Amino acid sequence: MASPKKNGNATGLRQGLATYGDAGFSLFLRKAFIKAGGYSDDALDRPIVGITNTASDYNPCHGNVPDLVEAVKRGVMLAGALPMVFPTVSIHESFSHPTSMFLRNLMAMDTEEMIRAQPMDSVVLIGGCDKTIPAQLMAAASVDRPAVVLPVGPMLVGHFKGEVLGACTDCRRLWGQYRAGTFSEGDIERVSERLAPTKGTCMVMGTASTMGCMVETLGMGLPGSGSTPATHSDRLRLAEQSGRLAAGMAKQQGPRPSEIMTEAAFRNALTVLQAIGGSTNALVHLTAVARRLGVTIELEQFDAIGRKVPVLVDLKPSGDHYMEHFHWAGGNARLMREIRGHLDESCRTVTGRTLKEVIDAAEIVPGQTVIRTPEEPIKPTGGMAVLRGNLAPRGAVIKHAAATPSLLTHTGRAVVFDSLEDLAARGDDPALDVKADDILVLRNAGPKGAPGMPEAGSFPIPMKLARSGVKDMIRISDARMSGTAFGTIVLHVAPESAVGGPLALVRTGDRITLDVPNRKLELLVPADELDKRLKAWKAPTPHPGSDRGYSGLFHRTVLQADEGVDFDFLGPAKT
Ligand code: FES
Repeated sequence: MASPKKNGNATGLRQGLATYGDAGFSLFLRKAFIKAGGYSDDALDRPIVGITNTASDYNPCHGNVPDLVEAVKRGVMLAGALPMVFPTVSIHESFSHPTSMFLRNLMAMDTEEMIRAQPMDSVVLIGGCDKTIPAQLMAAASVDRPAVVLPVGPMLVGHFKGEVLGACTDCRRLWGQYRAGTFSEGDIERVSERLAPTKGTCMVMGTASTMGCMVETLGMGLPGSGSTPATHSDRLRLAEQSGRLAAGMAKQQGPRPSEIMTEAAFRNALTVLQAIGGSTNALVHLTAVARRLGVTIELEQFDAIGRKVPVLVDLKPSGDHYMEHFHWAGGNARLMREIRGHLDESCRTVTGRTLKEVIDAAEIVPGQTVIRTPEEPIKPTGGMAVLRGNLAPRGAVIKHAAATPSLLTHTGRAVVFDSLEDLAARGDDPALDVKADDILVLRNAGPKGAPGMPEAGSFPIPMKLARSGVKDMIRISDARMSGTAFGTIVLHVAPESAVGGPLALVRTGDRITLDVPNRKLELLVPADELDKRLKAWKAPTPHPGSDRGYSGLFHRTVLQADEGVDFDFLGPAKT
């Protein structure tokens, strides 16, 4: 892969000069301005380590970023380089309209271009809340400048009336109880103060925690950086160490992300993703990162891994514990030790050690029960399966580790919602014709349709069924699902309905078969009838605002779920 353009071999402050037609003047001007910050010539002659500042009042998950930045700077300076902190887009799940995924590619572009535009020999990428680390990995892959990823780390657990609480698996569970009338108004108010009790990312095996494990497995961050609690002093030491490491990489001009995130490293990541019962979102994100490096992730490859690799981590939503328990049980390195036969241990990491050396150094914790052995797994196969059939020609995904076993093979009547707005309008209508063994279908919730493929796939059970005690139903959509959610949820149906995928053709009353053991998702309607419906189908009206700006760019160029929902023009660099 081509090296970043940096004024030939120039390093430090001399690289990437603004263009005035006189390189000497450009450097003079740059120095004159930076000296306003009180820097000495000695400081300005050092290799430069950029540090992304993703702190924002809108992003409480990143509340510890200022402390981490200071610790990274300390590590950089102790190693004799110059730290330079710069802001990028920051995205929080619940503060992003219409959905955080809509902004992931914007953050990736912002991070990529700021690394390219500003002089730095390496970069420490501090991220955490769901879409931020995927965006940073996508940027690192595209710039291909030495990079260390430092997750902000998971929150500690909360407590309520003797029960341990975790965002956001318990958010959904308790909200479901509140909707069903079994949890009081006062209790739901009190719980809202305890579900996210500290800074840091959601502490179940949701997308943020999953991506922390992916960072470690890919070799892009330090061992333990995915699971050390956000508020623990160890995390500050990890930050200092990340700064030191990045300074060393700046001096050596390597290794570059393309030398770390190889095809084998992505295969390792998919393997760990299955073994941790991780978030379905990570599959989309890994696909996007890999695509930027010219590596194709095949859904069948992921499914085949899942048939061999068991779920070994006993964490919510698939199990019982939380990220801090996973960390103190030995974390990702300890987990990899249990599945090392499935991993390519020769892969390099940013630490300079191979994955084998990282795994060999894993802490062994006597008596821990959070990370199981393959002989005593949480589930005998991986967390996710890939489905195909006439309803999902380019694939769909189900996290069967968090599903109701009795629903994994089921034929039922479709009850169709045409959009999120239709769902909101009719889902809780007492007159809705729906029964517990029906299959709920939501369409126009994919990358273009929603837009941004929101985490709406685990949409609520209709109120009248919830109140009668129904806890799970099969739900099918072209949306995503929060990694913290659970249920028999079929996601990422591709192609999505807004571009004419078969989901657009389903009618209430049709019958659908879900057969997870045989990886099938079939709409039981004759092909000629589906042809007729397709001929009569009209594409939905584009969303207001999608004729201009970022929305327009998104609408015109976003790819489908099986291609990572990246923009079509952000593939591997050709020059
Ligand atoms: Fe930020 Fe869950 S909301 S990680």
